Amino acid sequence: MKRILSGIQPTGAIHIGNYLGAIKNWVTFQTQSETLFCVVDLHALTTGYPGAAEMQNNVRTMVACYIACGIDPKKSSVFAQSDVPGHCQLSWILGCITPLGWLNRMTQFKDKAGKNKENASLGLYGYPVLMAADILLYQATHVPVGADQKQHLELARDIATAFNREVGEDFFIIPEPFIQGVATRVMSLRDGADKMSKSDPSDYSRILLTDDMDVIAQKIRKAKTDSEPIPDTVEGLADRPEAQNLIQIMASLEETEVADVLARYAGESFSLFKQAMIETLHSTILPIGQKMQEILAAKDYVDQVLKDGAERANDISQKTVQQVYQLIGLRK
Ligand code: TYM
Repeated sequence: MKRILSGIQPTGAIHIGNYLGAIKNWVTFQTQSETLFCVVDLHALTTGYPGAAEMQNNVRTMVACYIACGIDPKKSSVFAQSDVPGHCQLSWILGCITPLGWLNRMTQFKDKAGKNKENASLGLYGYPVLMAADILLYQATHVPVGADQKQHLELARDIATAFNREVGEDFFIIPEPFIQGVATRVMSLRDGADKMSKSDPSDYSRILLTDDMDVIAQKIRKAKTDSEPIPDTVEGLADRPEAQNLIQIMASLEETEVADVLARYAGESFSLFKQAMIETLHSTILPIGQKMQEILAAKDYVDQVLKDGAERANDISQKTVQQVYQLIGLRK
């Protein structure tokens, strides 16, 4: 049986890139596989401590978001990374066999550290090792993520292979990335060359799952496009990154293909298309935001979900940690 694991950093703002690139795909696994969805609060520390109250709040908000998007805590284990000590335990062990050369190639570190690398933290540098630990700890077979995580997943596979070589047995399952759908890389609404991200200084670059009706409409109306009409073929979107992005978002929201969207809007102006997109976003995203509020209001429920999820996650992960300790001769 497949075991699926994925996670998102609880950094407050959850945008449609996270939803369409990741969470929406997670939901489909719940019926056929064992599923574990982690709120990676330890990873969120790599860009600084947000403050105790905000941290707690962000974790709960992310749990509410998972559930509002269709993750069912009866079918999936939903838990916080910091509730499961195995993540840090395994991360240290894996870090000791990860060459610096591998970490130096990570483009996300380069992007996030920017020009002033000397001031970037050890945590930010080691981020992909902790992510490898998240996955290997559960012997996950598949990891559904957006395209930006491909390199981190390749590193996790390399680390698993290196560990297996060190101990002389196929101990860790080599996890498969699952990067699928029409929206694996949702781009900024302000610039089709940039990824939609939480850290973009412009609020108009992203639609949040908590945006209200008017804000969604405003952001889409302001979204950058070009002056050409909508093409009738997928090839016609080449070199038109903003147009391609909006069409892909629409296809993903409607659970259809880019070609189907083009067939309906070919030859039309973007102002007409944007109106349709606003309506689609209203019918798909607004209910998620509303459901999140309802779930968050039931505070005990969210805490219970986290408690149950942590219990299951600790069960699985402590077995792995014990086996790893034994294999390399650490004391239990
Ligand atoms: P985070 O929080 O940055 O992103 C969470 C998920 O959202 C996807 N994503 C996107 N997909 C499409 N278009 C976008 N613009 C976009 N922006 C974000 C990401 O690919 C990701 O799937 N490092 C991970 C968190 C993590 C993790 C793990 C994931 C930690 N441990 C173990 C899987 C397994 C991350 O990117 O978080």
